[in-house]
Amino acid sequence: MITDIELKKKWFEFFESKGFKRIAGYSIIPENDPTVLFTTAGMHPLVPYLLGEPHPEGDKICDIQRCIRTTDIDEVGDETHLTSFEMLGNWFLGKCDKEKMIEYSYEFLTSPKYLNIPKERIATTVFMGDEVAPKDEVAFNAWKKCGIGDVFYLGKENNWWALGGGVGPCGPDTEMFYDTLKPKCSKDCSPACDCGKYVEIWNDVFMQYVVEKEGEKVKALQKPNIDTGMGLERTVMVLNGFKSIYECGILKKVIDFISSKAKVEYLENEKFKRSYRIIADHLRSSMFILGDERGVVPSNVGQGYILRRFIRRAVNCARNIGLDTKFFNDIIDMFVDHHGEDYSDIKKNREFIKTELDKEVEKFSKALEEGHKEFEKVIFGIEKHKEFASKNGEIVPNIISGKACFRLYDTFGFPFELTKELAKEKGYDVDEEGYKKAFLEHQEKSRTASMGTFKGGLADTSTASAHLHTATHLLMAGLRKMFGNQVMQKGSNITPERLRLDFNVDHKLTSEEIKELEDFVNDAIQRAIPVTCEEMSIADAKKSGAVGVFENKYGEVVKVYTIGDVSKEICGGPHAKNTADLHHLKITKEESSSAGVRRIKAILD
Ligand code: ALA
Repeated sequence: MITDIELKKKWFEFFESKGFKRIAGYSIIPENDPTVLFTTAGMHPLVPYLLGEPHPEGDKICDIQRCIRTTDIDEVGDETHLTSFEMLGNWFLGKCDKEKMIEYSYEFLTSPKYLNIPKERIATTVFMGDEVAPKDEVAFNAWKKCGIGDVFYLGKENNWWALGGGVGPCGPDTEMFYDTLKPKCSKDCSPACDCGKYVEIWNDVFMQYVVEKEGEKVKALQKPNIDTGMGLERTVMVLNGFKSIYECGILKKVIDFISSKAKVEYLENEKFKRSYRIIADHLRSSMFILGDERGVVPSNVGQGYILRRFIRRAVNCARNIGLDTKFFNDIIDMFVDHHGEDYSDIKKNREFIKTELDKEVEKFSKALEEGHKEFEKVIFGIEKHKEFASKNGEIVPNIISGKACFRLYDTFGFPFELTKELAKEKGYDVDEEGYKKAFLEHQEKSRTASMGTFKGGLADTSTASAHLHTATHLLMAGLRKMFGNQVMQKGSNITPERLRLDFNVDHKLTSEEIKELEDFVNDAIQRAIPVTCEEMSIADAKKSGAVGVFENKYGEVVKVYTIGDVSKEICGGPHAKNTADLHHLKITKEESSSAGVRRIKAILD
């Protein structure tokens, strides 16, 4: 039996003994990178160093990094998927000695002092070569030299690693698998197939290449590196022979706790089991996001939207298993106690996490009661329709219309994904295209009639609020011009009387800076610039240089609002038609919002 804490300890002991310096893990919210919402791998925050900048702690480092990946969010609750996990990593910066790294990997995996895996239980894969990079014979031979029997040459789909967006350092990798000793699924069975015989536990990436800009070819890196990553929970799972990742460490403790409070048994049926697991996973992710030094609070955009989705889904799952949401705070405490040692900001923000979580839970719980009733009505309506139609020999499919889904979102605050999930539980499909259409139609209506959705932090959609919303875009453009493009909106709240805007600038704005910002906005107002809006795909929006958070999973079509040469942002609207409508802006307050985030309030007078 090996616990997550023991595995961590062994990792650092081993790499420190080889001269690697342990560094603190980074924030879960990437800095200077509007292309992704969360840190997805240990190397993510290290990109500047992988591209050649010297790291203050030297050229051999190791760490543990909290990560969030939302691409498989719908799979969470099965045996192996999580949205948040921890990755153990080590790096050689500016040097790519594959033989040495493979020797280290072999030693860590097999030495009785460390993981003590018999070498027959290890299989590895190496890159088979293509037009960009040659067959990795060096890696192959290094494994053979260690005495590993099963070394497979595989192609780019399996043995090439690059960041999600494709831009940045990249290269061939060698992956290490634990052989579960299940029989081979076919004579060609290899770590490339997902029959479950081989489970990946570690990846050594040889970062010898780089893609500098989107669409550009791969180039050799002047100073190649090695980047490795071991999934903590996954490795604990296979080493202990667990069937599920939820049997590991803190996740197991939390599930046991939920068990002691919920009205139904954990393993009673598939739906209950998933609900337990989703609560554990999503509350941990929420804790990581809220507790981070660059943390955000729930909102309708970007990271805030994902956070909202995590919390709302957890509330819904709590309902499924009869768990009072007042226990969420105990669960957060368990996670903070467990993770606070490695990530000190979490410990510091313990109370903040709980307060913000409570607020969102309460907001949603109210809406949920109503929404559930409404959802049942929708299903009832379809069932009635079916009954009626069947008398005439017609068949009505089990589909909830896009309009009904949109109404649930718009009126009851049901995220579309939740409707989809509830529908699935009842054996229904949802009309996703119809939902998107209804969403966009509604946005358009709100724009022209100045009434409608609650997007972008607007408390209502009156003309006054729409004008303040445009002022927010101008302020963001000004802030980015003054302090650089890494400045992003961290939150916004608009009433007809005033706007409130949070953004990541690391110091209190001086009175000169406030004046400069006001002048920037008022100059744009004076110039009477028309505000235009276009609908486009996320990819086109990104190409057009629009500011916003890009994550292709959420809403393929977006609106881009352009204010002449001043601002271009992905946004749901509504806005003023022309900057002249704003008359004049005055900043009334500047204060701290949270660590590294400032808040301003402003009015139009
Ligand atoms: N960056 C590599 C991964 O995430 C190690 O697998």
